[in-house]
Amino acid sequence: MLNLAGREAGTTGTFLPPGQGGSTASKPDDREALLEVRDLRLGFTREGVREEVGLAVDGVGFSLEGGKTLCLVGESGCGKSVAALHLLRLLPSPPAKILGGTVRFKGQDLGALSETELNRIRGDRICMIFQDPMSSLNPVMRIGAQMGEGLRLHRGLSARAAAREVEAVLERVGMPDPAGVAREFPHRLSGGMRQRVMIGMAVLPGPDLIIADEATTALDAVTGKRILDLLRSLTESSGASLLFITHDLGIVARIADDTAVMYAGRIVEYGPTGALLAKPVHPYTVGLLRSSPANLTRNSSPPRGSPARSGRSADIPFRERRRRLAAIPGAVPGIWDRPAGCSFHPRCAYAVQRCSEEDPLLRDAGGTFSRCAAGAHSGDRP
Ligand SMILES: Nc1ncnc2c1ncn2[C@@H]1O[C@H](COP(=O)(O)OP(=O)(O)OP(=O)(O)O)[C@@H](O)[C@H]1O
Ligand code: SF4
Ligand SMILES: [Mg+2]
Repeated sequence: MLNLAGREAGTTGTFLPPGQGGSTASKPDDREALLEVRDLRLGFTREGVREEVGLAVDGVGFSLEGGKTLCLVGESGCGKSVAALHLLRLLPSPPAKILGGTVRFKGQDLGALSETELNRIRGDRICMIFQDPMSSLNPVMRIGAQMGEGLRLHRGLSARAAAREVEAVLERVGMPDPAGVAREFPHRLSGGMRQRVMIGMAVLPGPDLIIADEATTALDAVTGKRILDLLRSLTESSGASLLFITHDLGIVARIADDTAVMYAGRIVEYGPTGALLAKPVHPYTVGLLRSSPANLTRNSSPPRGSPARSGRSADIPFRERRRRLAAIPGAVPGIWDRPAGCSFHPRCAYAVQRCSEEDPLLRDAGGTFSRCAAGAHSGDRP
């Protein structure tokens, strides 16, 4: 759960968001979040120029309580995957460079662990699901064998006991013929089935945290929705937390307790999902919502200050829907082209002179935290 002083119904946090450019904000109570990330700074070196580093993740901090779902959302190139991969120290180094920050999982500083200690956590306490299951599955190994491998390694189960658990979990993820699927090779399954296998593998060890990076992006809409529902029900029943990475605000609205909007390596808005979707404050969040078809069909209210405040698409004139679907002009700057000041300023419709000079901090904007120097009321502007 996000640390937002209990201003939304259901928000129990009583502290500030961690890690904003060296901020020492901390919790006044004793509860330790399951995952606590502070002031993460990650870069890449240029090929052949080791001393030059481009920042892909710049001062990112968030926390996640047990049983909750946090979405990292933003356009392509915002740094979502780089941040997520670093949690398990999966970035190749070089070219990746860790410039600062801490990742605490169940109170343990993951940065201080040896590779052997980390291996005990990877694939057991923290599991990861990727967009393309084929890249994670071994093409020449039967599904049952690869799913059971971790159980035999981490829990010392016999082949027969592992096979029983594998079939049980394949049934839980909705496979019609678990024993038959366990005997198949990955290429014999559909994309949706492969992603179910990946989810089965992720929940099999009973992890505390599942990280899903664009886990439904490669699937058709109906299959993607089923997979999301499955993930949600599995995490709810097991009590695992979910860190879900997506560019789709429809998914955010569907599954996230809290949401962190990322832009150019930074979190620009962060808060309980209900507040963030109903009253977005940062111009980038407002832009994302306006360019999202989901905004027109979900219950979330349009951005504050928007002319039509009805949440139902049927009530919104077609021309208004077209206007709101207009994309944010321009593109996310690459790690070598970050503009001075607010990195969103070249694309921001509300930018003023100081936006190109001042680097805004993440500030309390009433309901969410927002990184905007021009104030917390972008939605009220024309
Ligand atoms: N190995 C690498 N070497 C150099 N730059 C990299 C490397 N990996 C990622 N980057 C850069 O880091 C930035 C963040 O990349 P990242 O993959 O985290 O984006 P993302 O938000 O996950 O985007 P997408 O939605 O497309 O997956 C991008 O500008 C990307 O080009
Ligand atoms: S600081 Fe300026 S450029 Fe950046 S989001 Fe706010 S209004 Fe836009
Ligand atoms: Mg990514």
